[in-house]
Amino acid sequence: MDELLKQAANIVSNSKMTIALTGAGVSTESGIPDFRSSGGLWSKYNPSEFATISAFKADPLKVWEMLHAMDKIVSGAKPNAAHIGMGDLEKMGFLECIITQNVDNLHQAGGSSHVIEYHGNSRTLSCLWCGKSYSAEEKRGSFPPVCECQQVLKPDVVFFGEMIPALAMNRSLELASSAQCLMVVGTSALVSPANLIPDIAKRNNAKIIEINMERTHLSDGISDLFLQGSASKIISALVNLIKNKGNKII
Ligand code: APR
Repeated sequence: MDELLKQAANIVSNSKMTIALTGAGVSTESGIPDFRSSGGLWSKYNPSEFATISAFKADPLKVWEMLHAMDKIVSGAKPNAAHIGMGDLEKMGFLECIITQNVDNLHQAGGSSHVIEYHGNSRTLSCLWCGKSYSAEEKRGSFPPVCECQQVLKPDVVFFGEMIPALAMNRSLELASSAQCLMVVGTSALVSPANLIPDIAKRNNAKIIEINMERTHLSDGISDLFLQGSASKIISALVNLIKNKGNKII
């Protein structure tokens, strides 16, 4: 692993533009379950019944059972060393932007300011019927959260069957097409269109550095380096190596 870490540190240090694509695996060490590992969220809740926009419209109360359980975990979660390390890389000038599939706000809490929330965010809620928007904070404690028009509110996260926010989609495409290095951290890369980002970056000659507990379909073929293990441990080690090589002159 040491050799792989050194190679990864060299790539990131010498890259003129590095971006990252992150998934739920970057937050598991903050106590938030991922989706597809054993014991993950989808082993408890069938995504076709709890995570599609049609399921929400058919039975918002049922979907809020899952959302409420998740909110209790996410609202108490703190950024871990992976989030903090990526925030450090941004501050040192070695990480341009994070495209995250997560809606837990932990990259921002960990010090990153350039974050594209590809699957929306859980900080705000919207009414599908009258369009009114609320902060999740002001509605915390009322279950399910209800709009003044009496309809059940929906968190501004992207459900299956919904579009990716246009700005997030376009900006991510732009970055993936011009990055020299893409770090893929804690994602199974199974969900489209987020999982197109590594292919786009690869096609534009970016070096792909994958960090994951287990191999994915990217690991043999798309990823130039596959660093197997905990995101928090690997990112921390990577940041230390880069720090010791000297900060980038911005
Ligand atoms: N360190 C590194 N990798 C980890 C860790 C960890 N501590 N914990 C889990 N992983 C890896 C798992 O091995 C897995 O490959 O993170 C990946 C998580 O994959 P998923 O559970 O599929 O999560 P994600 O890729 O983010 O899912 C994408 O699917 O259900 C939708 O909208 C949801 O945004 C989500 C999308």
